[in-house]
Amino acid sequence: MSSSQWVPITAIGNLPLNEGRSLLWQGHDIALFNLGSRVIAVENRCPHQHGPIVDGIVSNVGGRVTVTCPLHTRRICLDSGQIIKPATAGPCVRSFPAKIEDGIVLLRKGLSEAEAA
Ligand code: FES
Repeated sequence: MSSSQWVPITAIGNLPLNEGRSLLWQGHDIALFNLGSRVIAVENRCPHQHGPIVDGIVSNVGGRVTVTCPLHTRRICLDSGQIIKPATAGPCVRSFPAKIEDGIVLLRKGLSEAEAA
């Protein structure tokens, strides 16, 4: 069972385009990326060796938006959370529900048990 609520975080104008900003959210270090028409929130922890992906460079590679981890340059798809370069079937970056409404970035509070696992 879940009880969720969207919480305003900041104006989208406070997040530079195609860059990440970090924040603490529900006990997690989150990397929030402004992709222009949408935002993506993921755990700020590379699946490889836990590097801070918030400091990585955001790119569009063949229609996939990726961030390159600054530690060992693994490229992570921000939609799937998977390391795509080098391709691996390993663990993914955890994502968190995020959206923009009326110019405000919102994160969803209250995770279902499945999401919290
Ligand atoms: S910690 Fe991210 S590539 Fe190694």
